Amino acid sequence: MTRVSHVELVDPSVYEAGGVPHEHLTALREHAPVHRHHGDPEAEAPPFWAVTRHADVVHVSRHPEVFSSYERLALFEEPAPEQLALQRMMMLNQDPPEHTGKRSIVNRGFTPRAIGALEEHVRDICRDLVGEVAATLEAGGEADFVRDVAAPLPLYVICELLGAPVEDRDKIFHWSNTLIGGSDPELQSSPEAGDTAAAELYAYAAGLAEARRAEPREDIITRLLQPDADGNELTGNEFELFVMLLSVAGNETTRNAASGGMLALFEHPEQWARLRADRALVRTAVDEIVRWVTPVNLFRRTAIRDTELGGERIAAGDKVVVFYASANRDERVFDDPFAFDVGREPNPHLGFGGGGPHFCLGAHLARLELSVLFETLLDTLPNIELSGNVRRLRSSFINGIKGMPVRQRPAFH
Ligand code: HEM
Repeated sequence: MTRVSHVELVDPSVYEAGGVPHEHLTALREHAPVHRHHGDPEAEAPPFWAVTRHADVVHVSRHPEVFSSYERLALFEEPAPEQLALQRMMMLNQDPPEHTGKRSIVNRGFTPRAIGALEEHVRDICRDLVGEVAATLEAGGEADFVRDVAAPLPLYVICELLGAPVEDRDKIFHWSNTLIGGSDPELQSSPEAGDTAAAELYAYAAGLAEARRAEPREDIITRLLQPDADGNELTGNEFELFVMLLSVAGNETTRNAASGGMLALFEHPEQWARLRADRALVRTAVDEIVRWVTPVNLFRRTAIRDTELGGERIAAGDKVVVFYASANRDERVFDDPFAFDVGREPNPHLGFGGGGPHFCLGAHLARLELSVLFETLLDTLPNIELSGNVRRLRSSFINGIKGMPVRQRPAFH
């Protein structure tokens, strides 16, 4: 095996400084596609298998009977027992058959039809957010794309999905942000603040469930609380945990797809010009943005039996990490993978997962949010441009942007 120089693949500071270490991942895809990564011995980081090719990421994702989401679920330190028990009640950390029943219950709320019904609300939210930025810039003020557009959009949409009243948005925003502070010291909350936010969001979700059970409405939450055709339903606990999962899984991901997509369009002005000339391209642009940005960089699984992958022997108990960001630049699958092309089609990217049982529940919703957002920007702020430094998130899990100042290009350009 050719040796590939060592880069800390899961060191958040690598990502903060320069984004995804693509050069290194490309070398791994070529020379060591299933690579035993030895972490920093000083940090006592345990080793894991880094899976970087598209075909292998798909294979791991589609074989939960070998690559479990439930066993040894943390990438590094195991959580405390009570935390672990709670996390294992979330479907993200379950395997079939437990996962299958839960997933089929919540799938009913996320079909293209159910999500399509939200379109007008998403359009109103985008119009308000982008309109406010336009007005601020018009008045000579400053705007930040993450703070003013990309962060509030998915949060407001989730509030809409939950049927939460508008006056509750701010507190739900605060709880979600506290929960997802992640590894970035600037955003990180204390463990106590995280616990408090989780408890408050949990209690809020319990209140929502109670209100809908007493007075059902024509909304997604009411549907999720009702038993499905086979009589399966979410227990109280499961519903509350699902609301928490939504606020974690649906927020930061979409936020960073929106801000990373905007940045890609700033860096490729000819692609923005193509979109301005042909709105029909927004549909393919959205998937290209998810491929290019890959908001969720990686996910971990644990082998629960001995197996072989990419010519390597993997032992039961080994951690296996799939790198979606690498799979999405795999030259075996994508022509010219390092070109950002808003018209790319087909685009079998793995930004929403490798197609197994955990494939992103919110993919239709994310596509809707992103396409309406970019349509609104093209209509309202066609001359938007970057006006300062982009600050990246200190995280190897979420490819994120914390701050991105924007302005309008003067009309004479
Ligand atoms: C799972 C990406 C938006 C809810 C996932 C997974 C990825 C992902 C990579 C794991 C797939 C796997 O392990 O095979 C993204 C990206 C998004 C996005 C890139 C935005 C561009 C959303 C939204 C929601 C959502 C808007 C809901 C409001 C979920 C849930 C899961 C999930 C609940 C767990 C599904 C399961 O375990 O069965 N997403 N996601 N996501 N996503 Fe998303």
